[in-house]
Amino acid sequence: MPSTYADTYAKWRKDPEAFWAAAAAEIDWIEPAARVFDPAAGVYGRWFVGATCNTCYNCVDRHVERGRTGQAAIIYDSPVTGTKRTISFQELLAEVNALAHVMRRMGVARGDRVIVYMPMVPQAAVAMLACARIGAIHSVVFGGFAAAELATRIEDAAPKLVISASCGLEPGRVVAYKPLLDRAIELSSHKPEATIILQREQQRCDLVAGRDHDYAQLVGEALANGARVPCEPVAATDPLYILYTSGTTGQPKGVVRDNGGHMVALRWSMKAVYGMEPGEVFWAASDVGWVVGHSYIVYAPLLAGCTTVLYEGKPVGTPDAGAFWRVVAEHDVAALFTAPTAFRAIKKEDPDGRLIAGYDLSGFRTLFLAGERADPDTVQWAERQLSVPVIDHWWQTETGWAIAANPVGLGQLPVKYGSPTVPMPGYDVQVVDDASNRLAANRLGNIVVKLPLPPGCLPTLWNADQRFRQAYLEEFPGYYKTADAGFIDDDGYLYIMSRTDDIINVAGHRLSTGAMEEVIASHRDVAECAVVGIADRLKGQVPVGFVILKAGVAREPAAIEKEIVALVRERIGPVAALKTVITVKRLPKTRSGKILRGTMQKIADGEDWKMPATIDDPLILDELQQSMRERGIVA
Ligand code: COA
Ligand code: AMP
Repeated sequence: MPSTYADTYAKWRKDPEAFWAAAAAEIDWIEPAARVFDPAAGVYGRWFVGATCNTCYNCVDRHVERGRTGQAAIIYDSPVTGTKRTISFQELLAEVNALAHVMRRMGVARGDRVIVYMPMVPQAAVAMLACARIGAIHSVVFGGFAAAELATRIEDAAPKLVISASCGLEPGRVVAYKPLLDRAIELSSHKPEATIILQREQQRCDLVAGRDHDYAQLVGEALANGARVPCEPVAATDPLYILYTSGTTGQPKGVVRDNGGHMVALRWSMKAVYGMEPGEVFWAASDVGWVVGHSYIVYAPLLAGCTTVLYEGKPVGTPDAGAFWRVVAEHDVAALFTAPTAFRAIKKEDPDGRLIAGYDLSGFRTLFLAGERADPDTVQWAERQLSVPVIDHWWQTETGWAIAANPVGLGQLPVKYGSPTVPMPGYDVQVVDDASNRLAANRLGNIVVKLPLPPGCLPTLWNADQRFRQAYLEEFPGYYKTADAGFIDDDGYLYIMSRTDDIINVAGHRLSTGAMEEVIASHRDVAECAVVGIADRLKGQVPVGFVILKAGVAREPAAIEKEIVALVRERIGPVAALKTVITVKRLPKTRSGKILRGTMQKIADGEDWKMPATIDDPLILDELQQSMRERGIVA
């Protein structure tokens, strides 16, 4: 089918409000919007002002009312526990009603926050939908974060309730969640009134009398009684959720998502970007703790009446590198969305794709990649093995859906390796220099999006309008700063090359090197430190810490380095993946004292680098290179 992308984009450009008003027809509103876009509302304007709606109704109830009763809503496939469970839309409605009823009885009301700290179990999606049903604002925290990270989120969101589980399961390791939750509540000055804990048989936990409640017991009783809770009408502009993401400091940013714009954008994307029809099976192999999980494990597939696969396992090792093909074949998955790192892991274990042969993948149409740069090698390997289009697309926690993609639902555009293709309607993407001057095609610069952002993107940060302005809007007036650098080629294709801040991308996980430096600096023997993300064949990037010890520290550097690795794991969590710390005598700095992290990274990656004109002492770079050589980081 010839692509209608250019016409669609032009139609949006001509009349954005008419474009999004047409997309909004796919959503059931309680009250339609008085204004599709109000430029005077919020920080940069708000979408669907005056409308009321309910996201849970659109994800669940309306499909039951219109005949999808028996269709699978969620297929839970968990190789780590050896469990599979199919939940129909009817069953999902009953369980969401039951949990919503329990939450209501606990006094959770519209606008209250609920933290969801759960592994990849269907109850995590049920919890999100139950919050949406009663107008509570959920904040899901990824299970790979440690107690201190959970505590900062509890502190900031001030939840009335926490929904969690006794444990998560990593290959070969049970992750006890409850001690982490207890510690986080201890650390936070805000104390949630109650918790609801899903006891998993792999490792049960103790419940604190009066505070902790048993999920199965409460929800089981409500289910047996046929509990029903009406969907709460909320404003389209009310927050649906807060999702914390790495910023440049240890204090994460609470990205706010609204109800109305979010539904409109995600529903539009399921057809146009992913080419999905109601009733088909969509699988985002991510985690509900990340934005990909929010948007494309839970909300978008359900809004579109698709079946979503919730997979508790890894691409390799659960049990082998054929796991993805088994899930695709067994559940008749039409489209899979994952991070390139997952495919690098599979390619490493099974370079000739031998494990694909045993599976019937005839129903599989498209592979989508995002979360980090999709390297051409991996994309081409996947194309060869699977014989389906492999689509790279670019987005961020802040936007909630693709900024740039190859929208297969509008007819696929030619693939250019290394490019996530073209801007989606809603996004006027430009490349500018540091003084906001627009750059010509093929020139590398800051990637910015002309305001207003489209529906679905963050209207602000939780309780922090000023931080939102300062972090995203002030540097390039009139534009949203993506903090990605790249260029646009002569055909209008975008290339995303690197971040302009201290964020690194480790196995598709977004991490702040600044946050790691804060933890390392708190070690009693550390005088100064720098963390840089260096290239890694599997994970894309991994962090490496460089430390200068305080004068007079006589202990073995190797022992201190080990303690620092353990400290980062304890404070941020295993997901930080900091395994290498190198003690050095000096760090390279400019004459004004700024650490030259960019140059350090280039040396580590074996890239060409120029001696910075402002460097304080050029000899330090030789010393550093030598230290890296001794540790096998550079040849
Ligand atoms: N709970 C607790 N710990 C977790 C966790 C969770 N939900 N998720 C990851 N971890 C732990 C891992 O067990 C690992 O611990 P270890 O240091 O003891 O080995 C550590 O965090 C680092 O995890 P990760 O960087 O993911 O490395 P890995 O070696 O476990 O797995 C991949 C590598 C490529 C297989 C894995 O990252 C993956 O499947 N990625 C898929 C893409 C994805 O999910 N992207 C997210 C956004 S789309
Ligand atoms: P997150 O908020 O975790 O989704 O991370 C967003 C960041 O990941 C972006 O700002 C990019 O730096 C990077 N990223 C996401 N998708 C892509 C992609 N397709 N190509 C290159 N970088 C990407």
